Amino acid sequence: MAQLTGPADDVPSMGRRQFMNFLMFGSEALVAAGALYPVIKYFIPPSSGTGSAGVTAKDALGNDIVVSDYLASHPAGDRSLAQGLKGDPTYIVVEGDQAIASYGINAVCTHLGCVVPWNASENKFMCPCHGSQYDNTGKVVRGPAPLSLALVHADIADNKISFTPWEETDFRTGEDPWWT
Ligand code: FES
Repeated sequence: MAQLTGPADDVPSMGRRQFMNFLMFGSEALVAAGALYPVIKYFIPPSSGTGSAGVTAKDALGNDIVVSDYLASHPAGDRSLAQGLKGDPTYIVVEGDQAIASYGINAVCTHLGCVVPWNASENKFMCPCHGSQYDNTGKVVRGPAPLSLALVHADIADNKISFTPWEETDFRTGEDPWWT
């Protein structure tokens, strides 16, 4: 025998109603959170992230490089490696008048990632892996490397060298940096 149904069966039970309310509130809360995210993010200072932080240049032993000591043993034209951003080997460039250049050169070859040595007698960076060459600013002059070596800023403060990301135009090519 068929059961009788009536209007009472169409009214959600208390538990079902609470569940539906929860679902509705939950989805509204999600939408609100999504809309507020860009606003909240706007008020969080960029320094709370880690992406664009600088590092102090360090020697092979992990000690901070002291500029006055460094210049006493690295003459004009010298390009020697230091630990740079993300631990990348990075050349410090010594210009004339005992001055450190305002840029450093990431030593990682843009072909397949070998560390490119500086060849002082050729005045070039010459990759031993497949023969790519870069001029004394790290601009590629011979392939197969497709791109110039990446740049970083090198600023002096408190007798130390601070490397920070180079996000401006590449002064060697006049183009946007490929590494950002
Ligand atoms: S990795 Fe430098 S030329 Fe290939």
